[in-house]
Amino acid sequence: MTRVLVVGAGVIGLSSAWALTRAGAAVTVVDPDPERGASPIAAGMLAPIAEAHPTEPALLAAGRRAVEAWPDFASALAATGVDPGYRTTGTLVVGYTASDLAALDDLAARLAGLGVDVERLTGTACRRAEPALAPGVRGGLDVPTDHSVDNRALLRALRTALGAAGVEMIAEAPAEADVTVIAAGAWTPELEPSLDGLVRPVRGEIVRLRAGRRTPVLSRTVRALVDGRGVYLVPRATGELVVGATQDEVGFDRTVTAGGVHRLLTDARRVLPAVDEYALVETSAGLRPVSADGAPIVGAVGPGRVVATGHGRNGILFAPLTATLVADLVTGTAPDPLVAAAFAPGRFTPARIR
Ligand code: GLY
Repeated sequence: MTRVLVVGAGVIGLSSAWALTRAGAAVTVVDPDPERGASPIAAGMLAPIAEAHPTEPALLAAGRRAVEAWPDFASALAATGVDPGYRTTGTLVVGYTASDLAALDDLAARLAGLGVDVERLTGTACRRAEPALAPGVRGGLDVPTDHSVDNRALLRALRTALGAAGVEMIAEAPAEADVTVIAAGAWTPELEPSLDGLVRPVRGEIVRLRAGRRTPVLSRTVRALVDGRGVYLVPRATGELVVGATQDEVGFDRTVTAGGVHRLLTDARRVLPAVDEYALVETSAGLRPVSADGAPIVGAVGPGRVVATGHGRNGILFAPLTATLVADLVTGTAPDPLVAAAFAPGRFTPARIR
């Protein structure tokens, strides 16, 4: 039995550990501080169309493949005991000003160029779909195939599934493993020097709100351009609403700033005026691991060493695909060529990475 050490208990490490366990490996997960990563802070968008810059066809294609992998991934996890809160209610992208609407037209045209047709909606049609939206919304795009999941329920589900499978989750690395999978998010280059300069932290601040019993809620994710700035609101079935997210290049600083929270709440109120009635439950910040070209970096970087990082804004989305790829690489199974090529570490520095 192959002994695999997975370094990192975020969504990528835990999903990979689960896929490896299901593929018959003996897995141990090590993480001295699982709460410091991006996964507990994520909003849980499964939104390759609304979230990605559709300038990278391979990444968009991989994202759409990830969306297709989610139903099986979520139901297999739910079957092990904890429902990860997967929702297929879709995503609406909305805009306010003439230039926001022009940006949405541009997005729709680029997507059409890549073979993805999204329906253009008037402001009235947006409010028909989501009656709680502000009157100032002037138009939008309907993206029914962009979904969401409760990131924290997902992490609980993965830990429960791993625990049931007998996987040890520990704080300090044990001695021996045949293969080490490094899935340490923005910290991965510290453990794998061949990735030096290829993965950096990008801070994202989020606000968690909770609707009261009579407060108007959204039924789907709304991503908005508010005077050119992006904000998203991701509702949970529980009444929770995650508002995100800022993007700051401030190194490993996880400070929640007054300015960041102010901006998120200001923009969220423009989208959903009822935000004023929500309870403010939490403000927090996480560090997205962003790669030099924006695509994940998943693959072998040496004998017995595999990395899985660089998922940027899409770590939750790409978790099932990454996990399958990692398990395929470790067990010597032929991987999905589209995903393996789009995520290959060797695309950056063939000389540094064998
Ligand atoms: N996908 C959400 C974020 O990165 O903020």
